[in-house]
Amino acid sequence: MNYAEAESLLKKCGQQQVLAHWPKLGKKDRESLLAQIATLDPKSLARCKKALAEGAVPPDSSKGVAPKVASLKGKALKDAVAAGEAELRAGRVAALLVAGGQGSRLGYEGPKGCYPIGPITDAPLFYFHARKILARSIRYGKPIPFYVMTSEANYDQTVACFKDNGYFGLKASDVFFFKQGMWPGMTKDGKIILDKPGHVFMSPDGHGGLLAALKKSGALADMKKRGIKSVFFFQVDNPLVEVADPAFIGYHVTQKSEYSLKLCAKRDPKEKVGIPMRFGKTYRMVEYTEMTDEQCNRKAKDGRLYFLYGSPAIHVFDRAFLEREASKDMPLHLAFKKIPFIDEKGAAVKPSEPNGYKFEKFIFDVLPNAKTAAFLAFDQKDEFSPVKNAEGSDSPASCKADMQAKWRRWMEECGIHADERVKVEIDPVYAVDAAALAQAGLRLG
Ligand code: UTP
Repeated sequence: MNYAEAESLLKKCGQQQVLAHWPKLGKKDRESLLAQIATLDPKSLARCKKALAEGAVPPDSSKGVAPKVASLKGKALKDAVAAGEAELRAGRVAALLVAGGQGSRLGYEGPKGCYPIGPITDAPLFYFHARKILARSIRYGKPIPFYVMTSEANYDQTVACFKDNGYFGLKASDVFFFKQGMWPGMTKDGKIILDKPGHVFMSPDGHGGLLAALKKSGALADMKKRGIKSVFFFQVDNPLVEVADPAFIGYHVTQKSEYSLKLCAKRDPKEKVGIPMRFGKTYRMVEYTEMTDEQCNRKAKDGRLYFLYGSPAIHVFDRAFLEREASKDMPLHLAFKKIPFIDEKGAAVKPSEPNGYKFEKFIFDVLPNAKTAAFLAFDQKDEFSPVKNAEGSDSPASCKADMQAKWRRWMEECGIHADERVKVEIDPVYAVDAAALAQAGLRLG
């Protein structure tokens, strides 16, 4: 793109201020600004402006009904596991990781997936995810292709982390990295914000950016070529997740579901998790901020919370459903944030109060479009302990404690008592569950 083309595009979108400092820019900055402008899409900019003008009006959730949530036990569990194992043996399952977040609460330099979480080895979060995939692909004799979404900012470091660690034992050709999109930040009146005289402030477009990125990168086509049917979706910050869990995959396929969600019981009525609700024939994820006090505290006949189950973002998608959704526009969510900017004189300003908007898409916004959905309960302590904050709850310390508690439970099942003072860590390839540990025996040291 040359200057005249950039100017005409910006004029069309009412964003000429982006070139305000052009005369003072050097050759390199001019080139990179033109490259950034070339990525701006007039249709998307118009959507952002419209979203700002309309404001965030939360949809009415008062008529929401709690969905039916299955809890698999006995024969039902056995049947689901058998169905999931058949899918894995047929090579019809992929793993899809969203790892493009900025991890601002954790405050770790670098991709969150590189964060050292192994209680003994300091192995990174990526290690535990990749090794579970490897363990299951060894067990079922078929690769589970691993699709990893990054942002523009953490792509190189993510790829390097996998390369430097020999892809954690996976075949490089079974790991597919792709980048999510970026949206420019805007002021209240819809003007794109510059954070340097020759640079537009951009931020990742949210985990919902996944759909467009899957299509654009060729990942969806790759899944199709490989004969993938079920896509296990998970987040980078939860090393307890049972990636490609046969019971969940099996439940998803036997229910002929397009979008399945694992849910766990809230620990307190106001827990900050999304709650899936049914509205007539469709489902929608209701954010905790949209729920009334009455909804949060409502009791069912058995005395438990009526809206008991929240979503920790562990899903299985039908690949064909992802394909169908990938070309549609997703709703935009606005986040009012402190965005560094350049004032009219070209001076850099770090605001102390929020001054601009970031735009994000959320993956669960496709839930209402699913013709069939399924909900499966699981025990939080076994599968969900995210690393979100630097300290306190949902921190590396709480997560390491939860990882070790889970491994200690496996050891107890094998008849071995592990003293709380002894650190524990199990490579998923050595044992991916308690039964595998019993088979493998214990190697202490
Ligand atoms: P979070 O909502 O926890 O955001 O992401 P975050 O960016 O990791 O952390 P904070 O809020 O800045 O502290 C949940 C999951 O969605 C992914 C993250 O990598 C994480 O796996 N994500 C989030 C993306 O892939 N892209 C995004 O734009 C946002």
